[in-house]
Amino acid sequence: MSDYTIWKDVRVEKISSKHLGVLQNFAIDTSKPDEVELKKFLIEDAYNNQEQDFISRTYLVFHNPDNKLAGYVTLLTDNVHIRNTGLAEQFKAKNIQYDSLPALKIGRMCVDLNFRKKGLGTFLIHVGMRRLLEINERVGCRFLIADVKRGAKHFYKSLGFEVIKEKQKGHIPMYMDMRKQIEYLREHKKTVPFTDIK
Ligand SMILES: CC(C)(COP(=O)(O)OP(=O)(O)OC[C@H]1O[C@@H](n2cnc3c(N)ncnc32)[C@H](O)[C@@H]1OP(=O)(O)O)[C@@H](O)C(=O)NCCC(=O)NCCS
Repeated sequence: MSDYTIWKDVRVEKISSKHLGVLQNFAIDTSKPDEVELKKFLIEDAYNNQEQDFISRTYLVFHNPDNKLAGYVTLLTDNVHIRNTGLAEQFKAKNIQYDSLPALKIGRMCVDLNFRKKGLGTFLIHVGMRRLLEINERVGCRFLIADVKRGAKHFYKSLGFEVIKEKQKGHIPMYMDMRKQIEYLREHKKTVPFTDIK
């Protein structure tokens, strides 16, 4: 049973030029091509995609006691394709016949090899959930989505993600429906102010 005590010892920072020197030290399993790609993206693309091309934002998580980079998540807007899925049926029943619905996408996510199984992957998903709720204060956005590696399906499932459509090969498209969290905030007249992440 995990206790997530590590959450008290971490901080989130948006990637910036001051971080570029520490990205090289991010530890991954180099025998796994997916992880090599995730590190390459972090070093070569994450900052430029955010600061030059404005197509994603990358949040870094630092472990305060040793000031080490422990994980990152890259977020961007997208939509969830629902044609021929259970979600389409749900919406059809309300006479909403869209083929896709607004979503926030976890484009990339990785926890440093030395920090895995301590609750940081879950923390990074919560960073995404929080951003979605912030966005939803101003613009409709209900689903958190990801194209999930087969090996990580169990992890996403345990956090409440559902498979959009089963596929034989490649990454599995999954979504988390944030309806309940949005409803809770509305019912209790709570807002999620934009957080001041440095
Ligand atoms: C997938 C990934 C992000 C998960 O990160 P993580 O930090 O290990 O995730 P968590 O620690 O939150 O949860 C992982 C497991 O550890 C368990 N765990 C968490 N904290 C724990 C603790 N303190 N003690 C024991 N177990 C713990 C969780 O319950 C979870 O169990 P599960 O495997 O049964 O779901 C990470 O393995 C990773 O970066 N993998 C390589 C890249 C990748 O796959 N990225 C995702 C692309 S889709």
